[in-house]
Amino acid sequence: MNAAVVKRRSRTAPPFRTTPGTLRSWAPRRLTPHRASSATVGGAYPFLSPPPPPVGRALIGLDALTGESFCYDPWDLYAAGVLTNPNVVLAGVIGQGKSALAKSLAIRSIAHGRRVYVPADPKGEWAAVADAVGGTVVRLAPGSPSRLNPLDAAGNDSTETHARRLRLLTALTEATLDRALAPAEHSAVDAAVRTAVARNGGGGITIPDVMAALANPDPDAAASDGTTATERTADGRDVVHALRRLLHGDLAGMFDGPSTIVVDHATPMLVLDLSALDDDALAVAMTCAAGWVESAITAPGTGPAWVIYDEAWRVLRLEPLVRRMQAQWKLARAYGLANLLILHRFSDLDAAGDVGSRARALAAGLLADCSTRVVYRQESDQVTAASSALGLSQTEREVLVSLPRGTGLWSLPRASYVVHHVLTPDELAVVDTDRAIRGAVPEEVADGHV
Ligand SMILES: Nc1ncnc2c1ncn2[C@@H]1O[C@H](COP(=O)(O)OP(=O)(O)O)[C@@H](O)[C@H]1O
Ligand SMILES: [Mg+2]
Repeated sequence: MNAAVVKRRSRTAPPFRTTPGTLRSWAPRRLTPHRASSATVGGAYPFLSPPPPPVGRALIGLDALTGESFCYDPWDLYAAGVLTNPNVVLAGVIGQGKSALAKSLAIRSIAHGRRVYVPADPKGEWAAVADAVGGTVVRLAPGSPSRLNPLDAAGNDSTETHARRLRLLTALTEATLDRALAPAEHSAVDAAVRTAVARNGGGGITIPDVMAALANPDPDAAASDGTTATERTADGRDVVHALRRLLHGDLAGMFDGPSTIVVDHATPMLVLDLSALDDDALAVAMTCAAGWVESAITAPGTGPAWVIYDEAWRVLRLEPLVRRMQAQWKLARAYGLANLLILHRFSDLDAAGDVGSRARALAAGLLADCSTRVVYRQESDQVTAASSALGLSQTEREVLVSLPRGTGLWSLPRASYVVHHVLTPDELAVVDTDRAIRGAVPEEVADGHV
């Protein structure tokens, strides 16, 4: 419309007429209150609802408020600037469908060309998923012929391989010794790895090779570090004892030699089944296994992949493992990986250490590195922890305690959605864990989280 016309009209016409028929009046309105469901009101007044949920790869289910489809692909959302990193934390009480969500996310992401790694499956429930998508399952158990060498090299980057080996050995020994390594011990491990590589002609090394180099260090290398071979042997003594567990203890035969499994890098899904191990051995095995998976994942040309830590609270109890996990997450960015950390409650992250401890800060750092937080039903005493971890609104807090199974609050940096995860009948057959857990064993006990 022409501006002049508007001006002329506004000069001649009063702002509101009170004559009948114009439906305009200064008289107070007498409207009868109108009540409707939030779905209807959201449609009638769309400004109340958050921005439309993401669309694209990997359909998750339906937005509970609007009924729209909700899709999730962390790489696409990161590329679109919606997420600041591709990592996800998923928390909820037992039996709410966390694993079911992770599994169907895995299956659907694979259909869109992503890969999936499950570095530790403590309950043995991912094998069915790997079978369904034509993936690979490696089952580690005492006495089984499968063996992984956690010191396997990946690619040609010897500096990165060396750093990864050191991280792994440090985490392993610190977890077993239950203390941080002293500087002299760090130097002993570093020198032992270099010596073991040199003694093997620059080729692959195993834990026994490192132990041999710790017990019998290279005198020249020791001299160049300003020490002697005898002192270095003494420095490495505790480390040798800690590593001995992998050779003679409950984990014997699993991580103490060259890998017997060669991973086909084209496999859409790789699952490490550790369900045969008891709780004590599990954390150490998870660390070794994660080291091996890391070298498989970071091999050149593998493309975007999910790394799913189901039952991650088991790892979070040990500071060295948390530290290692954090280092691994930093690498994830460089390799296009998206980590999915599955917890029961946010206070699982507090189990890493005392208030103000480094471990606690590291665990909090992991959470801070997750741009997407999905919360399934929480016990009422956990709502405050969840809310302070995620910065939830009062309405979101109220929603948390009453979420039905399969429904979660998806908190993305600029919007939150309540999403009902829809399982297809075929997926349901693969993800049904109730079949195994149903029966006389109480769930908390069956889950080992008491
Ligand atoms: N969205 C869903 N729709 C229907 N059933 C579901 C859904 N999510 C989970 N379930 C069922 O709930 C049970 C427990 O799920 P699970 O993923 O093992 O729980 P959690 O990992 O949280 O302990 C499974 O048997 C699964 O089939
Ligand atoms: Mg589960």
